[in-house]
Amino acid sequence: MNAEDVEGLSVRKIRDGVVIDHIEPGMALNVLKMLHVDGNTADQSTVSVLMHAPSSRMGHKDIVKIENRKLNEDEIDVISLISPRATINEIYKYKVVKKLNVVLPKAIKGSIACSNPSCITNQNEPVLSEFKVVSKKPVAMRCKYCGRDMSYEDISAYVSGR
Ligand code: CTP
Ligand code: ZN
Repeated sequence: MNAEDVEGLSVRKIRDGVVIDHIEPGMALNVLKMLHVDGNTADQSTVSVLMHAPSSRMGHKDIVKIENRKLNEDEIDVISLISPRATINEIYKYKVVKKLNVVLPKAIKGSIACSNPSCITNQNEPVLSEFKVVSKKPVAMRCKYCGRDMSYEDISAYVSGR
């Protein structure tokens, strides 16, 4: 069964844009936050969010569809941290023209704040946060500046959209 057609409640296909599929259940809002999709955006592109959709592969999953938008590598890197099984589908004229599975990067810059309030990256200094990925499963990363270790839960909580 198509996860998007449960009991007739379907999220329609999009013409052009990006579908972020197989997001860990409950993580869709963090993905949107990181992408600065907050309802105040000036452009009027349609955004669809499906949370806790049944999935044969994952049990449950979240899906985010953003029309007229492409993701850059940094954005995809952050998605890989909070949803290691995510698939990024680029849609053009209703067709999936590119599909990629996210891959955990070695390091991550910006987009996630350090959980240490005393860290230089939290002091209104022009220093962008930077972390080294120190563990893959479960994911963990270490702040380049203060050495603070961040777990999956920390990473999800500190997605900053900056
Ligand atoms: N999709 C969409 N609009 C389109 C085309 C696809 O919203 N014009 C969505 C589909 O609903 C699906 C995702 O993009 O959630 C990927 O589409 P597709 O590759 O056709 O689906 P699957 O084969 O089920 O994907 P996968 O093998 O990655 O699970
Ligand atoms: Zn730090």
